[in-house]
Amino acid sequence: MSSNLPQNMWDEKFASSEFFYGTEANAFLVQQAQKLKPNSEVLCLAEGEGRNAVYLAQQGHDVSALDYSSAGIEKTKKLASQRQVAVTTVLQDLAEWQPNANSVDAIVAIFMHLPAPLRQQVLANIVQALRPGGVFIGEFYRPEQLAYNTGGPKDRALLYTQEMLANDLSGLSFEHLADTEREVVEGIGHTGKAAVVQVVARKST
Ligand SMILES: C[S@@+](CC[C@H](N)C(=O)[O-])C[C@H]1O[C@@H](n2cnc3c(N)ncnc32)[C@H](O)[C@@H]1O
Repeated sequence: MSSNLPQNMWDEKFASSEFFYGTEANAFLVQQAQKLKPNSEVLCLAEGEGRNAVYLAQQGHDVSALDYSSAGIEKTKKLASQRQVAVTTVLQDLAEWQPNANSVDAIVAIFMHLPAPLRQQVLANIVQALRPGGVFIGEFYRPEQLAYNTGGPKDRALLYTQEMLANDLSGLSFEHLADTEREVVEGIGHTGKAAVVQVVARKST
């Protein structure tokens, strides 16, 4: 299935030497990262320029970063090299992502906004790919974000709700599923008060 998403748009956003979403990890991920067991095998999906993957590698995890933007992947390699950590990069469209079942300890998706059929496919794959006891951590913009001009997709169909996450991740147990408004300050891409939905969900052992 093709994602029909504008990959070139991301390559353009990531073309500058500046990091569009900055080089610091997403604050919700930092808050939740202690839920990962030491030396976890972690997969960061739609990982862009690599800020979250590099942060997790700095915490001692074995991290892979997947994105379909080659400019994003190059920036990920650059940031990992600057911070002197190893991150495995995977240049791939999520539409083609077919993970092995029970193959990874944790999956992270920060602002991975996908159209409905692909979102459902990818979230189902996440449930499959996690090992028993494995954890998924995600933060996404929700439809209320359209009232702010602080980042995220302008297309309502790409925004997430708690209900969507509860349905699409129904194979997992939810440790946190909440709407919140918070200051998201991440480079020039995300700047200011934002309406987000956050999730931490675990596969049963
Ligand atoms: C808002 S950015 C978030 C980047 C990163 N997660 C972060 O927090 O900095 C969205 C990312 O999703 C990626 N993306 C969108 N659709 C994708 C797809 N079908 N396959 C792989 N990556 C995709 C884009 O290339 C972009 O890097």
